[in-house]
Parts: sequence; C-alpha cells; structure tokens
Amino acid sequence: MTDSDRHMSVHEAIAGRCAVRDYAALVPGDTQLERLLQAAVRAPTALHEELWRFAVIRERALLDRISACAKAAMSARADGLPHDAMAAFTAEDFHIFYNAPALIVIGTEAPGRFTDADCWLAAENLMLAAHAEGLGSCVIGLAVDALNDVAVKRAVGLPAGFTAVSPVIVGTPANPAALSPTPRKPPHVVLWS
Ligand SMILES: Cc1cc2nc3c(=O)[nH]c(=O)nc-3n(C[C@H](O)[C@H](O)[C@H](O)COP(=O)(O)O)c2cc1C
Repeated sequence: MTDSDRHMSVHEAIAGRCAVRDYAALVPGDTQLERLLQAAVRAPTALHEELWRFAVIRERALLDRISACAKAAMSARADGLPHDAMAAFTAEDFHIFYNAPALIVIGTEAPGRFTDADCWLAAENLMLAAHAEGLGSCVIGLAVDALNDVAVKRAVGLPAGFTAVSPVIVGTPANPAALSPTPRKPPHVVLWS
C-alpha cells in the first residue's frame, strides 16, 4: 500500500468504519501494524503521560488459548449476558477473535484515573487508521478478563504488571463488499445553550 492509497478524510474513515468479524487468512505485516500503533499514539493523553502500552499477538496458538480461556470464564460466571448471547459465545465453534490474524491489546503498566480513557482513545485512532488502510477491526471486550488473568498473561508472554484495557482485532476483511456501517441514532442533545 502506498501513501496515496491511504488518503481518506477522517470523516470518511469515521463514517465507513464498522466492526469486522470475518477475516481473510492474510497476516498484517510489521510495517503495517507499526503504522497503526503510530496512529494510536497520536491520540490525546491525559497529562501527556502516554501511559498506554501495546501488545501485538499474531501467534494462532496464543489467540486460541485466550479465546478458550475467555469462553471458559464466561461459562463459569454466566454474568449478565442475555441467554442467546451466552449460548452463542460459549458454542464450541465460536472463537472470540473470529479467527482474526492479529490482536492488538492496548493497556497500561501504571493504571490511573485517566489511563482507560487514553487506551480507548488510542484504540479508536488505531481502528480508524486500520479502516483507512483497508483493514478491518473490532473491539473484543470479551477478552479483557482473560488477558488480565495471571496464568494467561504468563502463557502469552505479557508482562505481569500489564493491565489490558482495549483489545482490538485487526486483519483483512474476508468479504469487504459485504461490509456496511451499522446505523446510529441521532445525537441525543440534553443541552444546547
Ligand atoms: C467496549 C466494547 C466492547 C466490545 N466487545 C465486543 C466483543 O467482545 N465482541 C464483538 O464481537 N464485538 C465487540 N464490540 C463491538 C461492538 O459490538 C460494535 O462496535 C457495535 O455493535 C457497533 O457496531 P460498529 O462497530 O460496526 O459500528 C465491542 C465494542 C466496544 C466499544
């Protein structure tokens, strides 16, 4: 991909991005992922502390392991999810990362009052940049607890002091033509003075 291929206005990127849950096998390369991380760290950061940290996981066995752990935890806890969603999420053939070729976990080693906000802002930048590159992405909140489990962190190679906040899968959409942004309600304004 050349620089000119990546030209898309920020409004086009915001309007066109959508969660992608079906991926081609193609694994994003280091250079492309590095560009996404560079976009992520351009996000606003409280007190300019830049306390976000990034973990890039492309190893299939590790992704499978995190998925299995998250599903097992969900089955054990049955917490607050509607019955249908629970059945779908714990089905044997369900993979919480939808077999995406890459997972970028944004988190911190120094959790503080604003670090979650920093991580989520970085995540949105990353997803918009991915969209502008023709890549799909999806936040996988279901992975957070598993990624913060001591045994999983050790198995995956994450630093013990790392707290995962925003897991985002990334990859080439399997069927780009089938993607379309999901609708939104108009902004619900409670005050406009
Ligand atoms: C905090 C958060 C957690 C999410 N967790 C998951 C998840 O675990 N699995 C999933 O398939 N999508 C997850 N999503 C994606 C949402 O389902 C998706 O963004 C929403 O349906 C709106 O669709 P859109 O992103 O295509 O506009 C999550 C999104 C957010 C913001």
